[in-house]
Amino acid sequence: MNEPVPDFPRIGLLGFGTMGAGIAQVFAASGRSVLVLETGSERLESGFAAVSAFLEEGIARGKTTADEKSAVLGRIAGTTSVAELGCVDAVLEAVTEDPGTKQALLARVAAVVTEHTPILSNTSALSVTELAAALPNPERVAGLHFFNPAPLMRTVEVVRALQTEQALIDRLVALVGTLAGKNAAVVKDRPGFLVNALLMPYLNDVVQAYDEELATAADIDLAIELGLGHKIGPLRMLDMIGLDVHLHATTAAYTATLDPAYAPPPLLRQLVAAGRLGDKTGHGFHNRCHSREDD
Ligand SMILES: NC(=O)c1ccc[n+]([C@@H]2O[C@H](COP(=O)([O-])OP(=O)(O)OC[C@H]3O[C@@H](n4cnc5c(N)ncnc54)[C@H](O)[C@@H]3O)[C@@H](O)[C@H]2O)c1
Repeated sequence: MNEPVPDFPRIGLLGFGTMGAGIAQVFAASGRSVLVLETGSERLESGFAAVSAFLEEGIARGKTTADEKSAVLGRIAGTTSVAELGCVDAVLEAVTEDPGTKQALLARVAAVVTEHTPILSNTSALSVTELAAALPNPERVAGLHFFNPAPLMRTVEVVRALQTEQALIDRLVALVGTLAGKNAAVVKDRPGFLVNALLMPYLNDVVQAYDEELATAADIDLAIELGLGHKIGPLRMLDMIGLDVHLHATTAAYTATLDPAYAPPPLLRQLVAAGRLGDKTGHGFHNRCHSREDD
């Protein structure tokens, strides 16, 4: 008996960086074929290497098999030519978070796909409504926001731009339902969508509380982990996200809304200015170079 053909059997993915690699893997694991567009062959190679390494680690942990790894990799193809995207059933962009880059690329893509092909964005902080407004048939544009690392994080936000048609939202919710372990949250197009809109003020409050010496970093995190049952405390989370990434996101949300909850706390700006970005620099709230004892 033949396997049922999934909706959106051929996905066109723009960008094979951190998110593109994870998302390509997720779609390929669902049985879809994925055509990834990148700027050059080196970028394509590093994307394939990232997927391969992730799956290899899965094999070592007994989470997947060598056969599954080759099946997943076999469903992903790379290209550097926009014209090759003409036959895909939906396009998801996961390129650099820069409005000019995204708009210019999406305009080129819209010129080669059919006028009804859904065009989706994985943006974290840009307005999907504004991206849609610059494209023909904006009703076929929506956000599809995966979290990092995409193969592990189970929430996918389906972002409804002002123009998005309901039929597309329904198809995207069904699509997410076919991705192993994933759960769709339908959300309005607002800065931070749902998860980050709630997370950013919380992280800002915690940095402020730490700056006011309410408690040590270790005690803040342990209290939240053990008191609320969270898997990781907020300062540990900031070290992992990158303080610069959070500063950029919360500044963008503040600029868009003027809501003081998003205003970056002064200590956050200072830590970033000092190059204490968290795990990626070895300096953060929990690392050797920024504990109260060092002050
Ligand atoms: N990293 C995260 O934690 C995270 C989480 C959720 C969403 N996002 C969003 O996902 C998107 C991608 O983020 P990332 O972290 O993967 O970035 P990244 O820098 O790791 O990857 C971006 C990729 O886009 C490619 N690219 C740039 N211009 C291109 C073009 N014209 N054509 C084809 N490819 C092009 C780059 O070569 C690069 O490989 C952003 O919109 C970001 O906001 C990121």
